[in-house]
Amino acid sequence: MNAYQDLLQRLPREPRTWLITGVAGFIGSNLLETLLKLDQRVVGLDNFATGHRHNLAEVQSLVPPEQWARFRLVEGDIRELDDCRRAMRWDDTQGVDHVLHQAALGSVPRSIADPMATNAANVTGFLNMLVAARDANVKSFTYAASSSTYGDHPGLPKVEDKIGKPLSPYAVTKYVNELYADVFARNYGFQTIGLRYFNVFGPRQDPNGAYAAVIPKWTASLLKGEPVFINGDGETSRDFCFIANAVQANLLAATTDNAEALNQVYNVAVGERTTLNDLFRLIRDGLAKHRPDLAEAQATHRDFRAGDVRHSLANVDKAGALLGYVPSHTLAQGLEVALPWYRKDAS
Ligand SMILES: NC(=O)c1ccc[n+]([C@@H]2O[C@H](COP(=O)([O-])OP(=O)(O)OC[C@H]3O[C@@H](n4cnc5c(N)ncnc54)[C@H](O)[C@@H]3O)[C@@H](O)[C@H]2O)c1
Repeated sequence: MNAYQDLLQRLPREPRTWLITGVAGFIGSNLLETLLKLDQRVVGLDNFATGHRHNLAEVQSLVPPEQWARFRLVEGDIRELDDCRRAMRWDDTQGVDHVLHQAALGSVPRSIADPMATNAANVTGFLNMLVAARDANVKSFTYAASSSTYGDHPGLPKVEDKIGKPLSPYAVTKYVNELYADVFARNYGFQTIGLRYFNVFGPRQDPNGAYAAVIPKWTASLLKGEPVFINGDGETSRDFCFIANAVQANLLAATTDNAEALNQVYNVAVGERTTLNDLFRLIRDGLAKHRPDLAEAQATHRDFRAGDVRHSLANVDKAGALLGYVPSHTLAQGLEVALPWYRKDAS
């Protein structure tokens, strides 16, 4: 039995209270679903900037009423310190044990279009959450960092201690998160763990809007018979990480009793890289099993996008060694779960 399987068996017998920020978003709502199914108590904080009530409604539909009763939603904004403090409690007697901080404005192009908004949510909001969690004496603080922090560093695969210069305002904010986290350990003894996610995908990732991620966007476009655009020649590559792997990393990080694992950042990915051209074929062929009309669909190439890194591939050894992380799904295995979800959503 690996460390995660062991944790999944232990947690229901030791219920704890968790705070998930960004709970109505893609990653946050998947964390919520997993934790409720493990009989945990969860406070969720969200301002619905990019998250959706229908994500919460879907989680509600997937768990029995007694598990749903262990969820409390705080509608609030991480840019407001008081809202962060409000979310640090289940009720008057019970505080939060573990914080999983996911709330942020994602997307490189969004940050280039509006760096102020990205900075306010991702830097001011992050600092508020650190202060509120420190003052609430939580047991652990795990936060969403990003592979964008590797910036212009040419090395492949990416190892945690070799980063380059950020290529976008979004990448700056995610790097600042890591710097603040480190400074909170030095000055206040407040230990955290940062998870550098690499292109996470799966059910409930939003396919709509100008800043949608590539897998939901292409899947939805194909299902609707709309054109699919590949930015550049399509040989750009990414380490696509199914949501179950990201959930696993969060739970292992939050509950680790390995002192060496604290005040660190970890790559969260699979350790395999796929080009955009290959990704397009995988999605198209996966959908074509049920929609034969899509079998010959082609993508259109257009210009490279500003701020994007060319190749991204993670070395996940550190998370394996210190947290016991073992990715459960490859890209292909994740698509087998994600594609039917988008087909259902489109029908
Ligand atoms: N999805 C990925 O591939 C990926 C990769 C690297 C890092 N990340 C990081 O993971 C985290 C979650 O990303 P996601 O893909 O689930 O995005 P998402 O947009 O689906 O979720 C973000 C959630 O945060 C909420 N939020 C935003 N601003 C807020 C504010 N000021 N106050 C309260 N709530 C606020 C949104 O409403 C949304 O529900 C983010 O920090 C993101 O930067 C994601």
